[in-house]
Amino acid sequence: MLAIEKDQLKNDIWEIAKKFDNHRSGLMPVLQHIQRKYRYISSEAMQEAADAFRIHPVEVHGVVSFYSFLSTDKKGKYIVRLCRTISCDMAGKRDIARQLENDLKIKFGETTKDGLFSLEFTNCLGMCDQGPAMMVNEEVFTKVTPEGVADIIENYRRRFGPTVSQEKEVQHAHN
Ligand code: FES
Repeated sequence: MLAIEKDQLKNDIWEIAKKFDNHRSGLMPVLQHIQRKYRYISSEAMQEAADAFRIHPVEVHGVVSFYSFLSTDKKGKYIVRLCRTISCDMAGKRDIARQLENDLKIKFGETTKDGLFSLEFTNCLGMCDQGPAMMVNEEVFTKVTPEGVADIIENYRRRFGPTVSQEKEVQHAHN
């Protein structure tokens, strides 16, 4: 991590910590902010948070490892979470999972090389009668079909990265 990034990280943490008078109750808001902004909680961030709240780094590490939405590995800009609970499982979760892995060319638990997408399973999203259900960041998708997966991914790619068709063109040019 560059010195300038370290300074930025430090500022981010202390700024929020100060709002909580450096009381431990501010730890979760700090970690959520860091996860959102940097897409992971680095060891530097854990140490800095421990300093800001005057607690042991092991305690910060314990919180980070307990909550699945906090991660020590860098996640993609878009986190695709597919429900693996029983109703969605029976509604065809396996086909959706296979399609997602094919389209993104990664397995669940992995992140695409361009840093755009991470693939994860999640528990019930409360949409059991409309399964299979999945989320991309905060957006929920229901009654997802294998064909629909490509459109969803393509839409997110358009917002940030190259389109699937552009990728195909690039692949074509290289063949
Ligand atoms: Fe998938 Fe409830 S079982 S949303």
